[in-house]
Amino acid sequence: MGKLQLPERLRWDHNAWYRRWLLRQLPSEAGTVLDVGCGLGELARSIRAGSVTAIDASERMIERAATTSSSVRWVHGDVFTRELGRFDVVTSEASLHHLPLREGLTRLKELTKPGGRLVVVGLYRLATPADVAMELVTLPANALVGLVKWLTGQRTGSHDPEMPVVWTAPALAEIRAAASEITPGARVRRRLFWRYTLVWDAPEVH
Ligand SMILES: C[S@@+](CC[C@H](N)C(=O)[O-])C[C@H]1O[C@@H](n2cnc3c(N)ncnc32)[C@H](O)[C@@H]1O
Repeated sequence: MGKLQLPERLRWDHNAWYRRWLLRQLPSEAGTVLDVGCGLGELARSIRAGSVTAIDASERMIERAATTSSSVRWVHGDVFTRELGRFDVVTSEASLHHLPLREGLTRLKELTKPGGRLVVVGLYRLATPADVAMELVTLPANALVGLVKWLTGQRTGSHDPEMPVVWTAPALAEIRAAASEITPGARVRRRLFWRYTLVWDAPEVH
């Protein structure tokens, strides 16, 4: 049986599902944007702003991302040690769990200009009955998505084979506690597909 062919905009992976939401959190006239842990750069390429910088610790990811767009400043380096300056908007899509949580969130905060915005789509680990209850929705939804991807000829794993992967993540309670200390006022929401979102509007002085 021939497989259906979906248009590009309907192709699906767990991170792309939240990318549209993430892009909507950016101010319509963002000046400078930094994407942390950009991987192959799909998010960075989609951002419309005065200037977009994207950093990744993997040389291979940056090498491959750099072949896809010359309008992004691609930086190979460790976000903790690389001097980057501060940005109107800092984004992190599925990368914060690659960093120690508190140090990582503190670094993302430092990189955000006063008055700027930090937007995170992150992964959390199942740790409470509420997390497990969410699985009653997530698992059937995930199976359905897997079926649709198979029928439409898309790769069923959501990871590129060269993408660095970390198989653990903090629990949602740890993320909320870190956020309330480090980025007070941040809005943290539990999402489907083992994801959470965090939006923090930096005060004028921080
Ligand atoms: C799961 S990938 C997510 C990639 C991309 N944001 C996406 O959504 O497809 C996480 C990325 O974070 C990068 N990373 C991990 N630690 C880092 C660090 N200390 N500094 C910069 N990037 C880092 C990894 O190399 C990896 O490419």
